Amino acid sequence: MAATQKNSPTNIEVKLRSRHLLGTEGLSANEIQSIFAAAGQYKKMFSAETRKLSVLQGVTVSTMFFENSTRTRTSFELAARRLGADVVSFVAATSSISKGESVDDTARTIAAMGIDIAVVRHNCAGVPLRLTNVIDAAIINAGDGVHEHPTQALLDAFTIQERLGKVKGLNVCIVGDIANSRVARSNIYSLQTLGARVTVCGPRTLLPKEFEKVYNVGVEYDLREAMRNADVVIMLRIQLERQASGMFPTLEEYRKFYGLNRSNLPDNVKLVLHPGPANRGVEISGEVMDSEICAVTQQVTNGVYIRMAVLTALAKKNKNG
Ligand code: CP
Repeated sequence: MAATQKNSPTNIEVKLRSRHLLGTEGLSANEIQSIFAAAGQYKKMFSAETRKLSVLQGVTVSTMFFENSTRTRTSFELAARRLGADVVSFVAATSSISKGESVDDTARTIAAMGIDIAVVRHNCAGVPLRLTNVIDAAIINAGDGVHEHPTQALLDAFTIQERLGKVKGLNVCIVGDIANSRVARSNIYSLQTLGARVTVCGPRTLLPKEFEKVYNVGVEYDLREAMRNADVVIMLRIQLERQASGMFPTLEEYRKFYGLNRSNLPDNVKLVLHPGPANRGVEISGEVMDSEICAVTQQVTNGVYIRMAVLTALAKKNKNG
């Protein structure tokens, strides 16, 4: 493996108005396209011989994960390291949270060691926003409760643009536990900003009709009908605790009505996405997940470049005030 190291900073520019990234709500199309342009440049560089840059040399990034993660934390840490940042990793399960320390005090403690950017995940909506008033570091929301997961939506839209050449004018169908999905919310905002039409689909217990008015999306309870004109389908993980709370009778019943498989996938669908982690054989069959139409691996790869672009934007923004 070629392990060329490039130490000169790049002139990659990413334009964000805020010094934090708390959601895709309110991001302009120009801001999103600026992130995509930078991610595309980084992807090109790292697909060639580059293995490391010094864009974030002297910057310290802390990943503060109060909730489990495989993809997002690893992806942010890899992105930060590829850009030459120092990375401090905090995982709640092995921390003094278990001794009763509060989220605010935990964040203050890590910030006091000198960090510039905090990547925060918590199962309560609003924690990243709250921490903007607790510590000085720039905050990136890595998923807060049912609220938002902005970098997931950005990497999803980037993958759509990469595979289909555009987002504008596409019909995108999001299927699953819409009411409890931060991925669905962040995707609705960013996809609409980029000019896509969004339809959401799921059982009535997990998809209130009000979504139509509140989010200006199509609401469908029948999967085949929802996918009838779709160019892209985003399948969401069914959260197993919803069955225990009586939101649907059995996983088999959920699979029957809302599971995507070869036989119900219509020809008009050109791309299937899944943010992961997936329940194979429940919301998506293994056959579809492993097929060329499904971009789940490409999403994960692109996630690193999108996060490199976001870290670059916030590091520069905060350095320049
Ligand atoms: N998509 C996503 O957020 O995955 P993780 O929970 O593994 O980070």
